[in-house]
Amino acid sequence: MAVRIEPWDAGDLQLLQKSMVDPAMTEHLGGPESPAQIAERHERFQRLADSGKGRWFKIVDVSTGESVGSVGYWERTWRDEDVYEIGWSVLPPFQGRGIAGIGTGLAIDVARSDKRHRFLHAFPSVDNGPSNAICRKLGFTLIEETKFEYPKGSFMRCNDWRLDLFALN
Ligand SMILES: CC(C)(COP(=O)(O)OP(=O)(O)OC[C@H]1O[C@@H](n2cnc3c(N)ncnc32)[C@H](O)[C@@H]1OP(=O)(O)O)[C@@H](O)C(=O)NCCC(=O)NCCS
Repeated sequence: MAVRIEPWDAGDLQLLQKSMVDPAMTEHLGGPESPAQIAERHERFQRLADSGKGRWFKIVDVSTGESVGSVGYWERTWRDEDVYEIGWSVLPPFQGRGIAGIGTGLAIDVARSDKRHRFLHAFPSVDNGPSNAICRKLGFTLIEETKFEYPKGSFMRCNDWRLDLFALN
């Protein structure tokens, strides 16, 4: 399936609602969010590009124009270093067709072209088979298993995957 990524905008609240109220979709992300949390997240995604500290995108099915998922990256401090972190999600009816891998690859191309940070990290739960497979497929290096606080106040066991955006490929 051919997909493209487009900047997150004001019309994308419904897409976010579909993913963030679903217990299966949020199993590795701390569980479903409240309407207020989702609205706040939607505002944050829209502001991200203007802040210069990252970007959020919707993943769009080229043939229908339908939004099928999202992917984004943002700045964080990790082990005393400023890096990018990336996250992704694809709605259940569209999973299992390689869409998250393609959409994430496209977002990585944009992060690379920003020339802002060398390292991009992903922290999928150790139990998130598809997300760990995506990291491996996209050329991330597995650094270590680590305890990661997400959401605030709750800790999960994650893999720390790292991609060198400045490496020649
Ligand atoms: C994780 C998620 C984005 C995957 O979306 P998707 O479009 O189905 O993923 P893809 O089809 O691009 O890739 C999945 C890969 O994992 C593999 N895979 C699937 N289930 C797997 C499992 N249980 N164990 C190992 N690998 C698995 C697939 O074979 C595929 O690899 P391949 O392309 O080499 O065959 C989707 O399940 C989701 O949105 N989950 C909820 C949100 C979430 O957990 N986000 C991740 C936060 S880091």
